Amino acid sequence: MLLSASLSSSDRVMLLRPFSTFRPALLSSSLSKTRTLRSFAWPSTKPTLMASISTASTEKGASSTDQEPQKQLQPPARPLQVAKRLEKFKTTIFTQMSMLAIKHGAINLGQGFPNFDGPNFVKEAAIQAIREGKNQYARGHGISDFNSAIAARFRKDTGLEVDPEKEVTVTCGCTEAIAATMLGLINPGDEVILFAPFYDSYEATLSMAGAKIKCITLRPPDFSVPVDELKSAISKNTRAVLINTPHNPTGKMFTREELELIATLCIENDVLVFTDEVYDKLAFEAEHISMASLPGMYERTVTMNSLGKTFSLTGWKIGWAIAPEHLTWGVRQAHSFLTFATSTPMQWAAATALRAPDSYYEELKRDYMAKKAILVEGLEAVGFVVYPSSGTYFIVVDHTPFGLENDVAFCEYLIQEVGVVAIPTSVFYLNPEEGKNLVRFTFCKDEDTLKAAVHRMKQRLRKI
Ligand SMILES: Cc1ncc(COP(=O)(O)O)c(C=O)c1O
Repeated sequence: MLLSASLSSSDRVMLLRPFSTFRPALLSSSLSKTRTLRSFAWPSTKPTLMASISTASTEKGASSTDQEPQKQLQPPARPLQVAKRLEKFKTTIFTQMSMLAIKHGAINLGQGFPNFDGPNFVKEAAIQAIREGKNQYARGHGISDFNSAIAARFRKDTGLEVDPEKEVTVTCGCTEAIAATMLGLINPGDEVILFAPFYDSYEATLSMAGAKIKCITLRPPDFSVPVDELKSAISKNTRAVLINTPHNPTGKMFTREELELIATLCIENDVLVFTDEVYDKLAFEAEHISMASLPGMYERTVTMNSLGKTFSLTGWKIGWAIAPEHLTWGVRQAHSFLTFATSTPMQWAAATALRAPDSYYEELKRDYMAKKAILVEGLEAVGFVVYPSSGTYFIVVDHTPFGLENDVAFCEYLIQEVGVVAIPTSVFYLNPEEGKNLVRFTFCKDEDTLKAAVHRMKQRLRKI
C-alpha cells in the first residue's frame, strides 16, 4: 500500500527478480497508464521514508528524547513526496484534532473512538486464542469459524443466506474492506456516486482507484436524499453508488423509500452498490435496513462492516465484506495484495463477539442512548442548532449562533478557548463550503466526560 501512495501512474519502477507476488500487483494498480517496469526508483524513496517516519513519531507525540537517535541518522531535509493521486489529501482531520486536544488539554469529542474498553468476554477470547498458539497467518479470506459467524449474523439481521466460504472476506477493518472493494471493482475513469458529507477514506480510496467521483449533497435539517438530483446523476455511465447507513457524520439513517429509490435506479442502469454499515448496531431512532436485503439487490451489492464500533474495539481493525461470488472475486483479488490476511487470534475473538446474545446489543443501545441524551440536551442548552441523529454515535450541529466565520475557525476556538474538541465537517465534502456551518460531536465517551464537556461549553462558550 505504501508503494501505491508514493508512485504516480507515469512513474517507472524496475523489479529485481525474485520478487514477492504482491509487488507486481500493487505496482500495476499504481502504474495504470504504463505497465513498463523499468528504471530503478528505490534510492529516491529512502530519505522520504525516513522523513515520514520522523514526522510520524512527532505526530504521535514522541518525546524529544525518543527522537534524539533519529536526528543523527537523518539525511538532509528533502521535500516530502507523494504520488499525484494522493497530493490533495493531508494528515486526516481526526489526527490533527486529536493532536490539538492533547496540546490544549481539551476534552476530545472529535474522533470516534470510545474512551472505555471493549467487553471482557471478547478480550478473554483473544487472550485464549493467543495462548492456544493461533498466531500464524490466517487463511486469506478469513478463518472459517469467523467467516461462519459473519454469515450467521448477516442471516439473522437481513434474512439472507450467504456462503461463508465464497461470499465473505475478512479484512483489516472496514477501511480495508472499502479499499479492497474500490481497488478490486473500480476501473480508472469509472464514475462512482457519493453522498456528501462522506467518511473521508471514500474519496481518498476512489482517488487511488482512479475513479471519477460524482457527489450528491445531503442537506440539513434531515439530510434526506434529493430525489431529482439522484435521478439525473445515475446513468448507464455509473459504475457504483456508495452509501453509508447509519451515516457518519450526520447520524442520518437512509429510509426504506430512499433505499428503494436507489435500488430501482441501480437495477435500471446496471449499477453496483457499496454499502458501509459499520454503525448498523447503533441504530436508535429507526430500524437499520441493509441495502442487500432489498429485492434484486444482493447480486449487485457489497456490504462492508467491522467489529470496532459495536464492540468498542476500534484498535483491533477487524472488518469484512459480504458480496455475491462474482463481486467477491474482485474484492479478494485486491485484498490478497493489500494485506493478504488479518490478525489470526483477533479473528477467533471476533467470532466469539459476533455470537454475543441479543442482550449485549440491547445493553449497548441503552448505554449509548443515555450518553446521547446528555450530549444532545447539553448542546441545545449551550445554544447550538442540533440536527436530529437517528444512528451512529455522532451529532451534527450548526455553530453559526456563536458568530465564527466557518467550521474550522469554530473548532479552533472551541479547542483553544473552551477546551473541547469537535470535528469541522467541511472535510467531509468535495466542496468544503457546503460544510462550513456544521461541526460534529461524538458521544462515544463515558458519561462523566460528556458532562464535563457540556459544563465547559456552558461556562466558556460565548457569542463572538
Ligand atoms: C463510516 C465509517 N466507515 C468505516 C470506518 C472505519 O472502520 P474500521 O475502523 O473498521 O476500519 C469508520 C470509522 O470511523 C467510519 O466512520
